[in-house]
Amino acid sequence: MHDLGLIGLGNMGRALTDGFLANGALTPPQLAVFTRTEEKAQDYAATTGCTAVASLAELVNSSSALLAAVKPYQMHEALSAALDGVTESKLVISVAAGVTCDTLSASAGANHRIVRVMPNTPSLIGAGASSITAGPNATEDDLAFVEKLFSSVGICVTVPEDKIHAVIGVSGSAPAYVYTFIEALADGGVVQGLSRADSLKLAAQTVLGAARMVQESGDHPAVLRDAVASPGGTTIAAIHSLEQSGLRAAVIDAAAAAANRSREMSRPSN
Ligand SMILES: NC(=O)c1ccc[n+]([C@@H]2O[C@H](COP(=O)([O-])OP(=O)(O)OC[C@H]3O[C@@H](n4cnc5c(N)ncnc54)[C@H](OP(=O)(O)O)[C@@H]3O)[C@@H](O)[C@H]2O)c1
Repeated sequence: MHDLGLIGLGNMGRALTDGFLANGALTPPQLAVFTRTEEKAQDYAATTGCTAVASLAELVNSSSALLAAVKPYQMHEALSAALDGVTESKLVISVAAGVTCDTLSASAGANHRIVRVMPNTPSLIGAGASSITAGPNATEDDLAFVEKLFSSVGICVTVPEDKIHAVIGVSGSAPAYVYTFIEALADGGVVQGLSRADSLKLAAQTVLGAARMVQESGDHPAVLRDAVASPGGTTIAAIHSLEQSGLRAAVIDAAAAAANRSREMSRPSN
């Protein structure tokens, strides 16, 4: 019996299982994969040493838990096809945005155990940020298993389902806002005469370094900022300019826009 059966070897499914294997959360014999295009699963199995299976039925029969990483609109078809008539209770982990625990339970069958996870793409390099939500029938052991998997590709927080929209605003969609900030900061260096390559290198490393300072010092970001803003100096001049341009309100509004869009997408008509 495999510990995890992956349904859907796309961008997110592959990134996650690559990370689980690379970081030791799973060994290759503990993982089975099934995806719509059989050769993709076979190639992946040949590369990683995990097991490729040829049908959803085989995946379900040979795996104690399932990780569903298909697109939200594909989820109902995949889960109902996989679990129709399966009486033994399976753990079903979904990473789909906007598909609620109740909808997952209705698609999988009421006897199965549901956990929703909202990862983000830096999981690809082991620097992800994920939320974990217990759905119908999920046990403490199920949550511990999911936390072990997803903490191998980054950090995890546990949230109730109504907070997943906020998670999408703060981390699920947020790598894209940070890329925009990095690009803009690099543009600022180019305006001041740096080469594009040097400016991008400096900007990206500065965002990485500042994030690590917040994580590793445990200090509030305002404390770290005040420590580098000398009276009458360059940094406080830049902060004054950012505040005049409304950076703080723009970022809060961006998180709200993503969260509100997620709420819209979760409504049954979508
Ligand atoms: N990408 C992100 O940034 C991100 C972030 C958070 C959450 N997510 C969630 O991750 C999920 C997957 O997204 P993605 O970007 O990885 O999508 P994707 O690249 O399109 O991957 C979906 C995979 O599912 C396979 N598939 C579709 N229907 C199937 C079925 N019935 N049985 C088995 N396999 C099936 C597809 O196979 P074929 O390749 O053969 O068509 C494809 O490999 C989504 O629900 C999304 O909401 C993504």
